[in-house]
Amino acid sequence: MALSVDQFQALYERLSHGYDRKARLFSMIGFDEVRQKRQAVAELRLRPGDTVVDIGCGTGVNFELLLEEVGESGRIIGVDLTQGMLAQAGARIRENGWNNVELVQSDAAEYAFPPDVDAVLSTYALTFVPGFASVIESALIALGSGQRFAVLDMKKSQKWPGWVVNLMLKSVSGFGITHDLSERKPWEVMEKHAASVTMTEYFGGFAYLAIAQKGAEKGRDPTM
Ligand SMILES: C[S@@+](CC[C@H](N)C(=O)[O-])C[C@H]1O[C@@H](n2cnc3c(N)ncnc32)[C@H](O)[C@@H]1O
Repeated sequence: MALSVDQFQALYERLSHGYDRKARLFSMIGFDEVRQKRQAVAELRLRPGDTVVDIGCGTGVNFELLLEEVGESGRIIGVDLTQGMLAQAGARIRENGWNNVELVQSDAAEYAFPPDVDAVLSTYALTFVPGFASVIESALIALGSGQRFAVLDMKKSQKWPGWVVNLMLKSVSGFGITHDLSERKPWEVMEKHAASVTMTEYFGGFAYLAIAQKGAEKGRDPTM
């Protein structure tokens, strides 16, 4: 059974101690999260001055990459459920002297996107949110025409025999990833609400990057 919002909160309060070190262990089996996150941020096609919401921001690992794109005139809003993860994100913000990064503690499904948001990112977090469909709907309502929502996340791979899938899921079970969680398909909801969705798979199909672009019939041209 997938964990409830309260169960995830309790789990990530516990995991928050030394979280970045634990997450880095996956790089030892060839899981190149840094490259994936760079690609996700590049696909947002950000401009200096943009406002970006990072859903399930955790300890704020994406902030530096996002700030490289939006600069000092931009704004980052990190949303996360868990106080312990946000405390580490806060420490990262203070250590770097960033004054354009804000944190909001909320279940992502209850978060109200600001009307001036230019892009939304979620890395290894959206699938954990039971109300992920309403997050996608609200984000795509808030975004302007041609703007983008990038979701980097895990999924069940169709490319491997069952025992490999079971082994993979076992290796990430400590992060709250269960069989039924891995069967959630946020990209199908994105396809319903966005003008286009592109999918890239990583790590033998156990991870993906989905880029949803809102209809570009009016508003700015995202390629300019
Ligand atoms: C695996 S961590 C990923 C953190 C970060 N995005 C990264 O890439 O390192 C998942 C994060 O999702 C957050 N989370 C889980 N359920 C959530 C929810 N319903 N609303 C907001 N955040 C949630 C957890 O607190 C945790 O920080």
